[in-house]
Amino acid sequence: MPTKIEKDAISGQDTTGHEWDGLKELNTPLPKWWVYVFFACIAWAAGLCVLYPSIPYGRGYFHGLLGYSSRRNVDADVAKLVDQRKDSMDKIAAMPFDAIKADPALMEVALTSGRITFADNCQPCHGAGGGGNPGYPALAAGAWIWGGTLTDIQQTVTHGIRSADPDARNSAMPRFGADGTLKPAEIEAVADYVWATFYGHAEGKDVSAGAKIFAENCAACHGDQGQGNRDMGAPKLASKVHLYGDSREAIVHQVNLPRQGVMPNWGTRLSPGTIKAVSLYVHSLGGGE
Ligand code: HEC
Ligand code: HEC
Repeated sequence: MPTKIEKDAISGQDTTGHEWDGLKELNTPLPKWWVYVFFACIAWAAGLCVLYPSIPYGRGYFHGLLGYSSRRNVDADVAKLVDQRKDSMDKIAAMPFDAIKADPALMEVALTSGRITFADNCQPCHGAGGGGNPGYPALAAGAWIWGGTLTDIQQTVTHGIRSADPDARNSAMPRFGADGTLKPAEIEAVADYVWATFYGHAEGKDVSAGAKIFAENCAACHGDQGQGNRDMGAPKLASKVHLYGDSREAIVHQVNLPRQGVMPNWGTRLSPGTIKAVSLYVHSLGGGE
C-alpha cells in the first residue's frame, strides 16, 4: 500500500500515511513533559544502579559507589540494641523488684528478656508459658510448692531444688514403700484416703484406715487438711493441680518411691540480672504472689 503523508485538515497534524478503509492515522507526538519525565526516570535508575548495590554477577554483585549495605545497617542496629539492653540489664541486676516494677520501660526489657530466657532454658521442663509437665510444676497455676513471691522464685531459680548448690531448697519425702515403713496394704489405704479426700474422687469407700495412716505419717509435711507446707516443699494435696498428675497410681507410686525432682541451680549459668528478669516473667504468667 503506498504511504502518503499529508496534513489533516481538522487537527492540523500530519498523518502517518497509514490508511484503512478511508480511516487515516494521525501522527500525534508524545507530550514533551512526558518524554522528559521518561528520560529523567531512565537517568535516575542508571544513577541508582551506579551508586547502590545493583547488578549481580557470578556469586557476587556490584556493591555500588556509596558502599551501602542493609545487612551492615542491621548489624549496627542490633549492636546498639544490645548496648542499650546491657544498661537495662545492669539496672535490673542492681535494683530491687519493686523499683523495677515501677519503671514500665525497664519492666518491658525484663519481661522480654525473661521470656527469651524461659523459652531457651526452662520450657523443656516446665512447658510453654509455664504450663507444666508431669514431674515439672506448672508455674502459671499459682499452686506453688516452694512459694510464688518474686524473691521466692528468684531464690528457687538461683539455687535450685535438691541441686548441688549448698543453698538449694531441700527436703525429702520418705520412701515409705521402698524402705518398708508402710506395708503395701497400708499404702493402698492411704492412697484411697488421699484420692478420695484431697484429689476429690470419693468412690463411697470407707477410708478411715487411710486417714489414720495419713495423720501419723504424712500430715507433718502435707498438713492435716492436705494444705501442703512450703517450708518442706511438700505440695498441697487438696488441689486440682498435681505435680505428678491426677491419678491414683501416681499417689501409690509416690508413697512407694518418691521421685524427689531436681530443679537445676541457675546461679552458675545465668547472670543475676537474667535470673531477676526470668523471675519477673515467671511471676507475670498468672500465678505470681
Ligand atoms: C531439668 C528440668 C528443669 C529445668 C530445665 C528447669 N526446672 Fe524449674 N523445676 C524443676 C523441677 C523438677 C521442679 C520441682 C522440684 C520439686 O519437686 O519441688 C522445679 C521447680 C521450679 C520452681 C518452683 C515451683 C514451685 O511451685 O515452688 C520454679 C519457680 C522453677 N522451677 C523455675 C524454673 C525456671 C525459671 C527455669 C529456667 C531458668 C527452670 N525452672 C528450669 C525442673 C526444671
Ligand atoms: C518429709 C516430708 C514429707 C512426708 C512425711 C510426706 N511427704 Fe509427700 N511429698 C513431700 C515432698 C517434698 C513432695 C514433692 C517432691 C517429691 O518427692 O517429688 C511430696 C509429694 C507427694 C505427692 C505428690 C503430690 C503431687 O502434687 O503430685 C503425694 C501424693 C504425696 N507426697 C503423698 C504423701 C503421703 C500419702 C505421705 C504419707 C504416707 C507423704 N506424702 C509423706 C514431702 C513429704
